[in-house]
Amino acid sequence: PRVAIVFGGRSSEHGVSVVTAASVLRAIDRDRYEVLPVGITSEGRWALVSDEPDRMAIAGGRMPQVEQVAESTEGQLALPASPVSREVVWTEPGAAPKVLGEVDVVLPLLHGPWGEDGTLQGLLELSGVPYVGSGVLASAVGMDKEYTKRVLESFGIGIGPYTVVRPRDWESEQGREAARARIAELGLPVFVKPCRAGSSIGITKVKDLAELDGAIAEARRHDPKVIVEAMLSGREIECGVLEFEDGPRASLPAEVLVGEGYEFYDFEAKYIDSSEVRIPAELGEEHTAEIRRQAVAAFEALGCEGLARVDFFLLDDGRWVVNEVNTLPGFTPISAYPKMWEATGVPYAELIDRLLQAALR
Ligand code: DAL
Ligand code: MG
Repeated sequence: PRVAIVFGGRSSEHGVSVVTAASVLRAIDRDRYEVLPVGITSEGRWALVSDEPDRMAIAGGRMPQVEQVAESTEGQLALPASPVSREVVWTEPGAAPKVLGEVDVVLPLLHGPWGEDGTLQGLLELSGVPYVGSGVLASAVGMDKEYTKRVLESFGIGIGPYTVVRPRDWESEQGREAARARIAELGLPVFVKPCRAGSSIGITKVKDLAELDGAIAEARRHDPKVIVEAMLSGREIECGVLEFEDGPRASLPAEVLVGEGYEFYDFEAKYIDSSEVRIPAELGEEHTAEIRRQAVAAFEALGCEGLARVDFFLLDDGRWVVNEVNTLPGFTPISAYPKMWEATGVPYAELIDRLLQAALR
């Protein structure tokens, strides 16, 4: 089969997506699949690029965020920012992705808005092209931290306390006052996040209400809708879900051990300083079985397909809450999703194969 691997994209996770795609291109079984890499620049132009994993950055600094990630993670993620070897076919900004040509299946390796959020999925639905992963609704819900919580809660899955600062709330002094009051009720510290983003980009941990407005302004640079979550005291545990022939199954869980000197699992702690991810998490049998059950329940609640990584907190009082559901989790060499499956007995190449096979079924 012919597979289009779509990567890059317009979101702030552009660089992470490029590293994800480079890893997948290294692992995919070339005897089985013909690969067509399609890059989307930060400006939204589509381009067919070299399928050499080491040469994926598009020529001439067209993808600035790629280089940023490549530079700051040098040695770890090994993403040379070299020009492409073969001619790049560009579309005009906003043009339909005719560059896809004849493909059997699309593997969208995009993180964040315009890729992980149902927009690309809608385009592919309209075009009648099969693709890996969740459909329009699950992608859109998973991208939005508010609606993820609302859906999970309605299915009886635990979530943490939060409040939302909608775009209009911040337009009037009255709205801002009301929002600040709702936030104050959550206690301190709180995490201020763009509602639809990923990789911890735009997130601030606020320990003093005097820092709140600045944190909201920062989150609003990424999304006009902001979510503020109470800090949860407990362990941060992730679990992978993958669709098999007989339905979704959960991987062994991983525990995030944030590196020393970090207040939380921020972008730097995640990708640059490589916080440790312990797999399997040392949870004991009962907790492990419970988190695997809940990960599948969260996957089903959102109506996910193919894959998802469900991120939990195991609270100090023994309760589980879901922090978020990632419908296109990272596949970088240091990402937890492929590592959790590896530890569960599904090596990287088989994981990619299973995802493609599920999409082709
Ligand atoms: N949003 C990043 C890519 C993740 O969830 O792994
Ligand atoms: Mg995320």
